[in-house]
Amino acid sequence: MLIDGFGRKHDYLRVSVTERCNFRCQYCMPEKPFSWVPKENLLSYEDLFKFIKASIDEGIKKVRITGGEPLLREELDVFIKMIFDYKNDIDLALTTNGYLLPKVAQKLKDAGLKRINISLDSLNPATAAKMAQKDVLEKVLEGIQKASDVGLKIKINCVPVKGVNDNDILDVLEFCKTKGYTVRFIEFMENHHAKDGAKGLNSDEIKAIISQKYPNFKTVPRDTSSPAQYYELEDGFQFGIIEPHKDDFCAKCNRIRLTAEGFLIPCLYFEDAMSIKDAVQNNRVDEAVEILKKVLANKPEKNKWSVKDDNEISSRAFYQTGG
Ligand code: GTP
Ligand code: 5AD
Ligand code: SF4
Repeated sequence: MLIDGFGRKHDYLRVSVTERCNFRCQYCMPEKPFSWVPKENLLSYEDLFKFIKASIDEGIKKVRITGGEPLLREELDVFIKMIFDYKNDIDLALTTNGYLLPKVAQKLKDAGLKRINISLDSLNPATAAKMAQKDVLEKVLEGIQKASDVGLKIKINCVPVKGVNDNDILDVLEFCKTKGYTVRFIEFMENHHAKDGAKGLNSDEIKAIISQKYPNFKTVPRDTSSPAQYYELEDGFQFGIIEPHKDDFCAKCNRIRLTAEGFLIPCLYFEDAMSIKDAVQNNRVDEAVEILKKVLANKPEKNKWSVKDDNEISSRAFYQTGG
């Protein structure tokens, strides 16, 4: 079993397969061109898989593939099948911006993928384009529909940013309610890669907007393994809010992240990382597991956004950490 220095059991591994992305979401990436990590620096699927196998043997029960945009990496279905074939009862999930899903959703499902989380910040084409800094909405909606049609369980993530999509929260909620998708609104996590001046809505501001239409929603008892606090509308539909600025957000954290370059990152906002690259590339998988245990022993109790509230800015964006 994987336990950190604060007694938290870790059974959730997030694996980023690339930091590249075909979107430039205002809360994540600079609009201007910048250079990617060269492809040869990335771990191969075989090397990532060596580590995933070992961590499943150590107690990991949920593996989520992330990026950047993970569907940009070729033959992702082959990688998913490697994991599925090793242990088919793993909760095998993917986080994507949805743009490339129309082409590959069926292949991913056939490979063993069970669940998919997709970003949807607006249902207005112009607003979605402003947020992603690219015209994306039509393809994303097509991707969501396709994923649903092939039988993948869907969660929608929406990050409300002031002056961009704060008027779109109710639309996104309504869309998910009609379609029967789970939806979470995520507080913007400040980072140095986001557009200058980007400011997120906090949980109270999000709730105030939702209560304009649904004044009587109630708080659902917290499922501690989920990063979201859920709320229930009078008709029973639930929506979640991810509140990383809250003091108790990290109390039950169960996750560890592996980047595409082989760095283990214990927390979304923590500047340290250790590499397992050399160990897995040279088949010293036991050593990689030792590094994992060391990283967990040094995992901070809380992310820094929750420690100092509004004024903290991470040097890493989600495209680098895998979100
Ligand atoms: P489920 O398995 O469906 O619960 O997905 P998930 O919420 O773990 O995955 P997803 O990729 O959809 O991530 C949603 C967002 O939750 C992340 O991008 C972060 O915004 C937030 N989140 C997840 N883990 C952490 C964490 O350890 N710290 C902080 N601050 N935020 C997190
Ligand atoms: N703050 C909050 N959420 C973010 N995401 C990406 N960057 C940030 C950020 N800085 C969201 C994406 C995606 C999920 C994995 O994280 O919208 O849905
Ligand atoms: Fe790409 Fe996701 Fe970052 Fe948007 S949030 S730029 S889709 S990695």
